[in-house]
Amino acid sequence: MKDLIAQSLKYQDGKVQVLDQYLLPHQEVWHVCQTVSEMQGLINNLQVRGAPLIGLAATLLVAYLAEQGGSQQELGQAIDDLEATRPTAVNLKHCMDRLRAVVNDERYVESVVAVAEQLFEEDIALCERIAEHGVELVNTGDNILTHCNTGALATAGIGTALGVIYQAAQRHGNIHVWVDETRPLLQGGRLTAYELARWQIPYTLLCDSMAASLMAAGKVDKIFVGADRVAANGDFANKVGTYNLAVLAHFHQIPFYVVAPKTTFDPLCASGQDIEIEQRSALEVTGVSGSFGDCQWAPKQADVYNPAFDVTPAKLVTGWVFDSGVYTRPAFSAL
Ligand code: MRU
Repeated sequence: MKDLIAQSLKYQDGKVQVLDQYLLPHQEVWHVCQTVSEMQGLINNLQVRGAPLIGLAATLLVAYLAEQGGSQQELGQAIDDLEATRPTAVNLKHCMDRLRAVVNDERYVESVVAVAEQLFEEDIALCERIAEHGVELVNTGDNILTHCNTGALATAGIGTALGVIYQAAQRHGNIHVWVDETRPLLQGGRLTAYELARWQIPYTLLCDSMAASLMAAGKVDKIFVGADRVAANGDFANKVGTYNLAVLAHFHQIPFYVVAPKTTFDPLCASGQDIEIEQRSALEVTGVSGSFGDCQWAPKQADVYNPAFDVTPAKLVTGWVFDSGVYTRPAFSAL
């Protein structure tokens, strides 16, 4: 496989390497990943995260295993096992399906490697096209609110919602970003803040619960968020807390855009009700651990609700920004 290099994932020197997103922003640690169980652990622990990136990381690992002499049966099993790591983002399934389609080829090693290279390069191009469309929605001086992390860390390219913001800052300048910290795992406070700082785009961090008063004060012009799965009717799943923002945006009449590549669209999923939502460990809510400290503040036996994602109904979406263009409701239904 040729060298493939992104912000948080690379294939270089014959090795699959991932930047540990759980340790960012204070530690930049790269892991070499050689086995399915290592990759499953990295994805489950959100060391590798973001809908496009988990698909690509799993894909590079399968291609690596093929090059290492893995049999067709072993690769088929690896594809199934990797697909099972996180259920909500359809990008992972999309990548695994593309590999499944070639794993029984006679020259399967070449085919698997070719698919891996294509998917990686395709993701870079999809991000570019999304940004080209999304940038048309942004005006100089805009204050844009975003949630979770949808930047270069979460894709092979410049990102999705954050890619639009990056492109707008390059093209128009004078963009300010409100960054939701994104409880419980703080992808906004840790990762989006880290990326915006590196890109020198002015931002202000807030706790998720502060978004309502910010909107009421007239300080948010637009909202751009990413997606883990967009259903055929336009409902979409994204990091938990996105639905709150959509309801608030509707009440305050603030444009609310969802930004995603075509690999996040799932035409086989009729509506948001059909999207499986991943439930995560209580420990993420009862306290913190890892690079952001190690402390449990809730009573040990506390009962906890911890869905990783929520579903925003299509009726709350102003526009869907895809690599093929910006769609509003009537146009979206025709997709
Ligand atoms: O649990 P995470 O951090 O993987 O969740 C990520 C999100 O919800 C993102 O908004 C989504 O995957 C889009 S990333 C381009």
